[in-house]
Amino acid sequence: MLIDNPFKFGDPVEGEYYLPRPELARTVGQFLDNRIHVILIGPRRFGKTSFILNLLKEKTQSSLFIDVFNITSHRDFLQQVLRAIRGKKPWSAHLKEWLSTIPRLRPRFEMQPDPVSGTPTLSLSAEVSSDKDVKETIQDVLAALEHLGKQVIVTIDEFQKIAEIEDKGWLEATLRTQMQQLKNVAFLYTGSRKGIIYDMINNSNRPFYRSCQPIEFPAFGTEFTDWIIQRFSIVNITCERAAVDHLRRILQDTPNYIQMVCFHVVAQGIQNVTQKKMDDVLNTIVRQNAYAYQTLLNSLAVGQQRALRLAANELTQIFAKDLLAKYEIKTGPALHAAIKSLKDKQILDEGTAKGKVFFDDPLFAIWLRTEFGE
Ligand SMILES: Nc1ncnc2c1ncn2[C@@H]1O[C@H](COP(=O)(O)OP(=O)(O)OP(=O)(O)O)[C@@H](O)[C@H]1O
Ligand SMILES: [Mg+2]
Repeated sequence: MLIDNPFKFGDPVEGEYYLPRPELARTVGQFLDNRIHVILIGPRRFGKTSFILNLLKEKTQSSLFIDVFNITSHRDFLQQVLRAIRGKKPWSAHLKEWLSTIPRLRPRFEMQPDPVSGTPTLSLSAEVSSDKDVKETIQDVLAALEHLGKQVIVTIDEFQKIAEIEDKGWLEATLRTQMQQLKNVAFLYTGSRKGIIYDMINNSNRPFYRSCQPIEFPAFGTEFTDWIIQRFSIVNITCERAAVDHLRRILQDTPNYIQMVCFHVVAQGIQNVTQKKMDDVLNTIVRQNAYAYQTLLNSLAVGQQRALRLAANELTQIFAKDLLAKYEIKTGPALHAAIKSLKDKQILDEGTAKGKVFFDDPLFAIWLRTEFGE
């Protein structure tokens, strides 16, 4: 019989593939219970979505999970809110009633049979066409969220997308208004672009100024290493502790990539995992991505390429003076400008400490080191 691989990566995880984060769940849960809006800030692929989906399962409040990762417009945002509402089983039966809670909403929606199941479901009517209609509908739908339950948690995943819509802050301001007005709704946001998010909540000219409790999404402690070793043991693989610790360090402690490498270790039929074998698997994966990394690198200006090599090789103090000459970067300000554009391109992000940067994709950093390291 084929035994399932005990590791999973890519999509959010649950059940046995998910290592709980009880402390974080307690902290976030308590804020939400007291209707303090929370924004969870953490790097890409760290497990934010998994955490939230698991948290919402535990909470007694009604909850709505809105994914805005791919939105480009107000209409997209509205569609994602509708999608989230439609996806809630207990509600879908009551959508008609819910629509009647806000009379203005009714003509803006149609109840049409779902093409697959045949049950009536909610969609936007053709009447909602101009940006003005869409905006009004967003306002009304948000206002109607309070009727979704006695206590409601509304989650917006990848929140910085809201700030990236070019609407002079309209959506941000609209959300802020509802956060204040809906007395039974707590908002929970997540975001991975640290710079953008801290500006949203710390800049007194912006609607979200001090409106949310920020919480930095923590890396796992040693329990994660124990868990990985235990997952290997399910398929009778022994794994050295040092091998896992090494992997965690080299991958910026990113659970997604750690599970990815472990998945491949299992798939390759390795029986005793050492640091060396872990590295071999990791390097194979990096090599498989080489073409994409090469293409990405070639699309960048020379100054940015050099800044990237520097960031990949020098993990701390990247702005130290003596590094400029070593990496052929003309001046300090030139390096700052290059790092800034790499952040805008979402290749790098601010690190936790000053003078440190974070690679959005730690495998890219490894590839850069193998190509350009000493
Ligand atoms: N609590 C956890 N226990 C074990 N693995 C986890 C955990 N959280 C995340 N992972 C790993 O990370 C992967 C990505 O998780 P998830 O999609 O929740 O992260 P994310 O931070 O939302 O990512 P993205 O930046 O892509 O939105 C999962 O497929 C899994 O491999
Ligand atoms: Mg996510």
